[in-house]
Amino acid sequence: MNTADLLALGERYWLPVYRPRALVLERGLGSRVWDTQGREYIDFGAGIAVNALGHCDPDLVAAITEQAHKLWHVSNVFYSEPPLRLAQELVDSSGFAERAFLCNSGAEANEAAIKLVRKWACAQGRAPERRVIVTCEGSFHGRTLATVTATAQPRYQAGYEPLPAGFRHVPFNDAGALAAALAPGDVAAVMLEPVQGEGGVLPAAPGYMAHVRALCDRHDALLVLDEIQCGMGRTGTLFAHAQDGIAPDIVTLAKALGCGVPIGALLAGPKVAQVMQFGAHGTTFGGNPLVSAVARVALRKLASPDLLANVARQSQALRAGLEAIGSELGVFELVRGRGLMLGALLAQGHKGQAATILDHAAARGLLILQAGPDVLRLVPALNIGDVDVSEGLARLRAALVAYLAAHTQPA
Ligand SMILES: Cc1ncc(COP(=O)(O)O)c(C=O)c1O
Repeated sequence: MNTADLLALGERYWLPVYRPRALVLERGLGSRVWDTQGREYIDFGAGIAVNALGHCDPDLVAAITEQAHKLWHVSNVFYSEPPLRLAQELVDSSGFAERAFLCNSGAEANEAAIKLVRKWACAQGRAPERRVIVTCEGSFHGRTLATVTATAQPRYQAGYEPLPAGFRHVPFNDAGALAAALAPGDVAAVMLEPVQGEGGVLPAAPGYMAHVRALCDRHDALLVLDEIQCGMGRTGTLFAHAQDGIAPDIVTLAKALGCGVPIGALLAGPKVAQVMQFGAHGTTFGGNPLVSAVARVALRKLASPDLLANVARQSQALRAGLEAIGSELGVFELVRGRGLMLGALLAQGHKGQAATILDHAAARGLLILQAGPDVLRLVPALNIGDVDVSEGLARLRAALVAYLAAHTQPA
């Protein structure tokens, strides 16, 4: 089937909840992908921070191939080795967790976290109205009804009312607002991203996370960290919160955990590890042998010092390149983020233009993402090499030059 026919299928058959660019990707290798017309792209989006080892990493291909010949799925009414070992390895590498729950996606991991918080509060004898979960404005926690309610961005919630009760939203990085939100004494947990992703690639301010931890302790509330986008090495440490020097009670993971196979995880610390007992929660596919075999190899590779050193090195290169382009062309107000989770905030005069710039980038052989209308988001593979970074930056510059030429043309 040719490209036009494939695009027509998307138009005709998909529930139109996405707006993909008008190209059809066919294969990938490392940080390069090719479309059905043979055009090559550098991939700075990595499937929205999923393909942390690039496309078709040989060790991941070997892991999935080997497991595909052994055992795919048994559901959690039986044990199999890959998810057992993965749970052990995640717990051991976390430094705080005692147990893991495996599921299929980020939203599902957060849904499990929300349920675990509520169950914990219930076990403590707290009435339902004293099981409030505080989340941050600009956050993104998923698309199920509970996680979209946790997601403190009205545009994701509109039309889905009535929303579940028991959530309170505060501005991110505002210690005073958080203290006020916990003051009534009805809060069971604070849930947040150490680096907000969809909300604009916004890291927690220095000291903020320690403040959150202290407030949670003071009010006997749990701290839930959503590391679905910023975890698994993306910010330069396996877990993003390691850089904040705090221990959470619950961490959720997905995206790069499977490097492209669908898997999520909830890691439970000592306060909550025993709260859910038989029948309290479950999922058919969660951590099946096929995806867990891949995730085990991904975890080993993403935790390796060499890989994390590459994140630090390429982060510097990418940030410096973005800043140079920004000051040359005047399109960026600032560049922010941590590790290989970087955002370029568009300057005045270019606000709202992120989607247009993404089109120009794709036309010049570069795949990048946006985080809202005003932020270009770069989340490449964590093993990206020097050549791909510099070539990607050159293509971004060319895209921005083309964008500026079109943007400034008289109508
Ligand atoms: C921080 C964060 N949490 C949760 C999710 C939801 O994950 P999923 O799309 O796998 O349900 C996302 C997805 O972008 C995310 O970035």
